[in-house]
Amino acid sequence: MNFDYKLQFDKDNKLKHFLNIENLSELHIKEIISKADEYEKSKKNKFYDLEGKTVASLFFEPSTRTKTTFELASKKLSADFINIDIANSSTLKGESIIDMIKTLEAMSCDMFIVRHSISGTPHYIAKEVGGSICIINAGDGTHSHPTQAMLDMYTIKKYKGGFQGLNVSIVGDILHSRVAKSLISSLKILSVNNINVIGPKNLMPDNLDKLDVNYHNDLESGINESDVIIMLRLQKERMHESLISIEDYYKKYGLTQSKIKSAKKDVIVMHPGPINRGVEIDSDVADGSNSVILDQVAAGISIRMAIMSLILNNRN
Ligand code: CP
Repeated sequence: MNFDYKLQFDKDNKLKHFLNIENLSELHIKEIISKADEYEKSKKNKFYDLEGKTVASLFFEPSTRTKTTFELASKKLSADFINIDIANSSTLKGESIIDMIKTLEAMSCDMFIVRHSISGTPHYIAKEVGGSICIINAGDGTHSHPTQAMLDMYTIKKYKGGFQGLNVSIVGDILHSRVAKSLISSLKILSVNNINVIGPKNLMPDNLDKLDVNYHNDLESGINESDVIIMLRLQKERMHESLISIEDYYKKYGLTQSKIKSAKKDVIVMHPGPINRGVEIDSDVADGSNSVILDQVAAGISIRMAIMSLILNNRN
């Protein structure tokens, strides 16, 4: 699928939607991180950046973290927030997504948060809607999860101080992971050149050579001297056939306290969630002193506040 990666910018290169990481500049990413930091460090619990605006969330796929943090972020910014119950919406009577969006637009919704199993759905909507509407991609198929990548960058900066010289390892099902693709693009924009991707070859994308990353089949040698390890879930729901057994996967790629020893002592262990304990990660590691998994979840609120407020301010 070909994506129009310029679709999310206005003529001054400011963000009008947030659809993908590709084509963002280092400045865009740093602006988002810095704004999120302002929110996180503020003693206030309520802001008025989105007062008078209406945000609608359209999740055609399950979610706990993304959906809830967008709702909390909207409410902290004083937006009116509508959670559309897709399972009971008129899409089940044959209404198209575009007609649904136009219907909600007629009710004065300003921003749509969209998650869909089909890659490119948020881009498609952004092309079709009126000029005053903002679309945020909350995860589309195997393509992109840009707000997750931003909260991951925020978490890395918080713990490592910056990005220079970092050794980052991404472990697991890269083939089906929208998180991995958005992560790699973000790290590249921030000039992180030492990126390892680790996992079985049949869970790697065909264009692995073009990603300009170090591929490792073995977990312990792959994470050697890593500053950051990002574990991924096996995306069983996106596999058309069984590509590996859970037992084999855990034996080779499950992160345990013993295997983590080959990374740096102060390595941080990340995971976008939901985690599968005893598959890609042991409880000892997920709940251990190197884990920052719950900090990632918390960062989701301030990062999503930053993205929503920057985009709507660019419209004013
Ligand atoms: N990381 C992530 O997208 O989690 P949810 O599916 O719970 O939103």
